[in-house]
Amino acid sequence: EKDGHDWFMRKEIFEQPRAVADSLLGRMGADGLLQLDEVRLSDDELRDIDKIIIIACGTSFYAGMVAKYAIEHWCRIPVEVELASEFRYRDPILNYSTLVVAISQSGETADTLQAIRHARVQKSKVLAICNTNGSTIPRESDAVIYTHAGPEIGVASTKGFLTQLVACYLLALYLAQVKGTRYGDEINQIVRQLEAMPAHIQDVLDRADEVYALAREYVDATSVLFLGRHAGYPVALEGALKLKELAYLHAEGFAAGELKHGPIALVDEGLPVLCVVPSRGRDQLHDKMVSGIQEVRARGARTLCLAEVGDTAIEPYADVLFRLPKVPTLLQPLVATVPLQLFACELATAKGHDVDQPRNLAKSVTVE
Ligand code: M6R
Repeated sequence: EKDGHDWFMRKEIFEQPRAVADSLLGRMGADGLLQLDEVRLSDDELRDIDKIIIIACGTSFYAGMVAKYAIEHWCRIPVEVELASEFRYRDPILNYSTLVVAISQSGETADTLQAIRHARVQKSKVLAICNTNGSTIPRESDAVIYTHAGPEIGVASTKGFLTQLVACYLLALYLAQVKGTRYGDEINQIVRQLEAMPAHIQDVLDRADEVYALAREYVDATSVLFLGRHAGYPVALEGALKLKELAYLHAEGFAAGELKHGPIALVDEGLPVLCVVPSRGRDQLHDKMVSGIQEVRARGARTLCLAEVGDTAIEPYADVLFRLPKVPTLLQPLVATVPLQLFACELATAKGHDVDQPRNLAKSVTVE
């Protein structure tokens, strides 16, 4: 049942190329237009949306953070992302032109469910991104995009997260198509880039041993920091969450630009810092990240960097370098998260922990 793997989690990490491919399947219609059959909202209703609020918990919340970057960039609609447990109790401003997007792998998370109930009372439309057919959250939503990860058994979300990212990108592109903020050619080109992702994820998985060897060096670590920027920031948060959950290790993710506002004081000799280096685009994001890495290294950190192939600028500042396939920054979470999953899984295994059933955690959190 675990396909020869020691843990369901490891099996699920290795299923990701298939899960991502399945979540993309059949979305392009014969007319060349993106189709999301499960969206039971009319184009007019979608065109009227002037604000999106994404609500979720844990790993699903990090998928929501990536969605914000994609939707705002491609659709020019303002997006807020909020933890479901906080949203409900702050008296949020909602109305009929607000789209609330609830992201939940299980579809049963109590905080997220309460949040969508509140949104519907305020007359907002609710769209669920969910992996579990017939679960409560999609049943109580106006529209659903199902991810096709297949059952996720490991308590730590892996393929659930990657397929949520796919659904978020598709939603963003769909809204761009309906609102006319992007041309069809451009949308098609991004869909092609998404279709290339399963092969890129496989490329990372084929080099899992590199990550495992690194992870085993850190069985005695007491703290690990994760740095990212832009779409790499939620990846850093996700990498840290995986380490907390599985290895019971203090881990924190930071937006690299925030370092000098406090966290850099944590850095001392030998502290492992995992750095998600953005793709080299036309903006300054990549260079700013490299200078952040330079700063932590100058203070003694051991920099473990994930950077795209051909990125030579990072080489002088990386103590360890794991190469990522060359993909656009917005899509990079689909490849950059994978080594971090492998890292946490292997480190927890080396510590002798139960990776599938970490202490104190449940797969589906059905109490508020
Ligand atoms: O089923 P959901 O996506 O609503 O679950 C949300 C969180 O409980 C979940 O992502 C949790 O953080 C995972 N254990 C992360 O690995």
